[in-house]
Amino acid sequence: MWILRHLLVFLMHLLLGSFAERFSNGYYYQDIVNGNDNYGEMYYHRIRLYVESPQTLVSAVQGSNATLPCYYRYEPKLSPTRRARVKWFWLPINGDGQERDVMVAIGAHYRSYGDFKGRVRLRRGAPGVVFPYYSHRGRYLMNFHEAEEACKNQDSHLATFEQLFAAWEEGLDWCNAGWLADGTAQYPVSVPREACGGSDLAPGVRSFGFRDKSLDQFDAFCFTSSIRGEVYFLQHPIKLNFTEAAEACHNDGGHIAKVGQLYAAWRFVGLDQCDAGWLADGSVRYPIIKPRMNCGPSEPGVRSFGFPPKHLKHGVYCYKVHW
Ligand SMILES: *[C@@H]1O[C@H](CO)[C@@H](O)[C@H](O)[C@H]1NC(C)=O
Ligand SMILES: *[C@@H]1O[C@H](CO)[C@@H](O)[C@H](O)[C@H]1NC(C)=O
Repeated sequence: MWILRHLLVFLMHLLLGSFAERFSNGYYYQDIVNGNDNYGEMYYHRIRLYVESPQTLVSAVQGSNATLPCYYRYEPKLSPTRRARVKWFWLPINGDGQERDVMVAIGAHYRSYGDFKGRVRLRRGAPGVVFPYYSHRGRYLMNFHEAEEACKNQDSHLATFEQLFAAWEEGLDWCNAGWLADGTAQYPVSVPREACGGSDLAPGVRSFGFRDKSLDQFDAFCFTSSIRGEVYFLQHPIKLNFTEAAEACHNDGGHIAKVGQLYAAWRFVGLDQCDAGWLADGSVRYPIIKPRMNCGPSEPGVRSFGFPPKHLKHGVYCYKVHW
């Protein structure tokens, strides 16, 4: 089977720019609009178009499928939504320098070309988010039933393998094994390293296989696919201990937010707030879409401070359903 190698580049709205040459034996793709950065931002008549490609390197075994993740959204949201035209082309490193059309997508419709005809397809963004969860008692302390319960308590449920796999494809990298809905314990690794099963193993979802649901203990991978209400960082003049935080949300007509709700707001609504806040399970977290100085690592994500002592003072994230 002839396989796609070397370089796939995506091009948004036919905006052209130069891109730094990058090469490996795997697949590369790059937001050429934004040079080396994998976080794009463009303006059209004061409307911002954000382009995110969470993984700059996608590798796959010869003959297998590969997914090149890329998301875009407009801010403010457009209504009616504007259909973007997205074009993928292939630039073989050792070729003649000619681009070859791979696929053009307009909205949900797409068409593939040449050797790629019928072999590439547009995968619509999976509406869901997978997040790792561990007990306030510590790491690897939940049997299957406790993990199931823990996800439920966070307004989510145990992720299926397909959901974890999709999250891995989108760049989830987590070095602690968690229960999945089928009773296996697995963990997703994008950057192979010694501490996560070995640095010479290929990236992938590593599995401990089916485990004893009562005796074996791991963390959990929870999945949530929707958010009905609104999650917000409570504007409050002073910082609060955990009891005060829960009370403050209540006084504001809501509840202290659950972890699943914060993840959903981060993923689906783009909640971005560089302020640590209490959540219902006693953990302290904050959601970052656009990484910046003093707001954690360089990847977007929900940052966690674990479960600090409850008398410590922080902000708080509340959740409110608008009827
Ligand atoms: C690749 O994906 C297609 C479509 O989902 C599937 O039919 C095919 O079996 C996959 N091939 C491999 C090698 O996984
Ligand atoms: C938080 O502070 C209040 C006083 O404002 C106190 O009554 C309560 O016990 C404190 N909660 C914790 C967990 O320390």
